[in-house]
Amino acid sequence: MKGIILHGGHGTRLRPLTHTGPKQLLPIANKPMSQYALEDLKTAGITEVGIIIGDVYPEKVKEYYGTGEKFGVKISYIYQAEPKGISHAIRLCKDFIGDDKFIVYLGDNVLRKNLVDYKKKFESSDSDAMILLCEVNEPQRFGIAELDKENPGKIIKIMEKPKNPPSNLAVIGIYFLNPKIFEIIDNLKPSWRGELEITDALDMLMKKGNKIEFDTVTGWWKDTGTPEDIIHANKLVLDSIGTENQFLVDEDSKIKDSIVIGSGTEISRDSFVTGPAIIGKNCKIGPSVRLGPYISVGDNCILKNCNIEESIIMADCKINAKTDLSTSIIAHGSEIQDNQIPKKQQFLLGERSNLKI
Ligand code: TTP
Repeated sequence: MKGIILHGGHGTRLRPLTHTGPKQLLPIANKPMSQYALEDLKTAGITEVGIIIGDVYPEKVKEYYGTGEKFGVKISYIYQAEPKGISHAIRLCKDFIGDDKFIVYLGDNVLRKNLVDYKKKFESSDSDAMILLCEVNEPQRFGIAELDKENPGKIIKIMEKPKNPPSNLAVIGIYFLNPKIFEIIDNLKPSWRGELEITDALDMLMKKGNKIEFDTVTGWWKDTGTPEDIIHANKLVLDSIGTENQFLVDEDSKIKDSIVIGSGTEISRDSFVTGPAIIGKNCKIGPSVRLGPYISVGDNCILKNCNIEESIIMADCKINAKTDLSTSIIAHGSEIQDNQIPKKQQFLLGERSNLKI
């Protein structure tokens, strides 16, 4: 079985963060979110992976993942010139896939449980597709599956972002498929938003008499389309520190009381970190810094005088500010300085921002 990771799209809801790179490379607990997808596929025994790259800095994706050797997989890149939908991206993989079953993983989805059991189930079943469903609070925001009231083991309809959702069961962004889907996509019409929707392809596959089965997700699943989603995903991943070390970035890091500290990082005596937290390599923290809970700090950051909780500070940032930061995302190479009395702030700063308050 091969795997596909979708790394295209425009990520408009995450601007300005996506002005300088694809959203799937934004870090969650100091690791690009699509790396969780790649590692999930690898753990499930998949070593041949196709990555769909789009027109938002595709070279950054190639630079990070390379041939895949570093990650123990072989990667092929498949170019999608325009984000014409998830089904459109899948159709581009026909030659790469050949005749076998395959798994599609949206590069901005993060799942707590790995894919091992789901993959085994699909491999041994005669279904043409398997989807994973997860209960959500705002079903209008997701692709939704409607189950048969008489026979709740059967899906009767799959629809994209319904105004009046018949259930709260979201179709998550991991699809187990076989090559029958390609012919279905060839006959698909673009939706009102101009995209070839995966929900329409799955619904048509089912309406044509093919068998679709489902499983339900245990533990959490997060689709990280907005800044709030990214902060939430960061919290969910950090909560697993010390219990599930697949979320740790580098083997030289030390873990204590749900705090991961990278090699070469110095924390001054008058500074304090509250876990769960992750701090990368070669950072200088202090004087008078309070970090956490739920904070990820990338490599080579210099932080002075600040209080930061529930936030993501990417690599190479400098913060020297008596400001309380909360639920903020500060992209690579940004600087914040201030001379003010403490005040709670929330920032979403794109790469190399320079903020003087
Ligand atoms: P979306 O979140 O639906 O789209 P987007 O990434 O363009 O974001 P926004 O709505 O904020 O503009 O995409 C879901 C996933 O699928 C995401 O990982 C990007 C990927 N994708 C592609 O690879 N190709 C596509 O044509 C589309 C629409 C999405």
